[in-house]
Amino acid sequence: MHHEREKWNRKHRDGVGPEVPAGIIARFIDQVPPGKALDIAAGRGRNALYLARRGFQVDAVDISDAGLNLMAARHPRLQRICADLDRFDIPAARYQLIINIRYLNRRLFPYIVQGLAPGGFLIFETFLESGGYGDDTARRPSCRDHLLRENELLHAFLPLHVRYYAEHGVRRPNWPGPLASLVAVRRVCP
Ligand SMILES: C[S@@+](CC[C@H](N)C(=O)[O-])C[C@H]1O[C@@H](n2cnc3c(N)ncnc32)[C@H](O)[C@@H]1O
Repeated sequence: MHHEREKWNRKHRDGVGPEVPAGIIARFIDQVPPGKALDIAAGRGRNALYLARRGFQVDAVDISDAGLNLMAARHPRLQRICADLDRFDIPAARYQLIINIRYLNRRLFPYIVQGLAPGGFLIFETFLESGGYGDDTARRPSCRDHLLRENELLHAFLPLHVRYYAEHGVRRPNWPGPLASLVAVRRVCP
């Protein structure tokens, strides 16, 4: 854990990674009524801050205190939680919205489903193994544990009502690699 924190602290201090919110969030956020939101692996807070400004009460969890400090006092509706997600339990039925962008921890999948309030939304987007989409680049995780397999995200969240799922192989300058994106809702009646 210490090693992981140091690694990400260095990256965040160096300013690695995008500053604007993820496009998938901006695209679907109008469908989500404001309420309590959880940002899993919030980094420097580009997505958490966007949600707070849109009226969500956001819990932003990350292992990197440097990343979280970079978002310090930037919004009163944003609560920073410095924690290791390998040990973090998401409270049941708490969140109207859970976002998980560019991070993969399969242990959390069942907690994410349970953590949504009935009618709550999940917006999840992270890297895929490159299979068929093109070359890997240095800007995406190198370890397979942090890369999704084809259709994996879709299958993992079938207990929810999947509203949108796509695997993108788009290549453009500075594009870190193929992504899978999912938007899903917890049913009000199981
Ligand atoms: C690629 S960044 C993505 C940050 C943010 N979601 C975004 O889209 O800008 C991955 C984040 O995962 C965090 N992270 C990695 N391992 C973690 C762990 N075990 N517990 C909590 N956060 C972790 C890192 O500190 C980093 O901020």
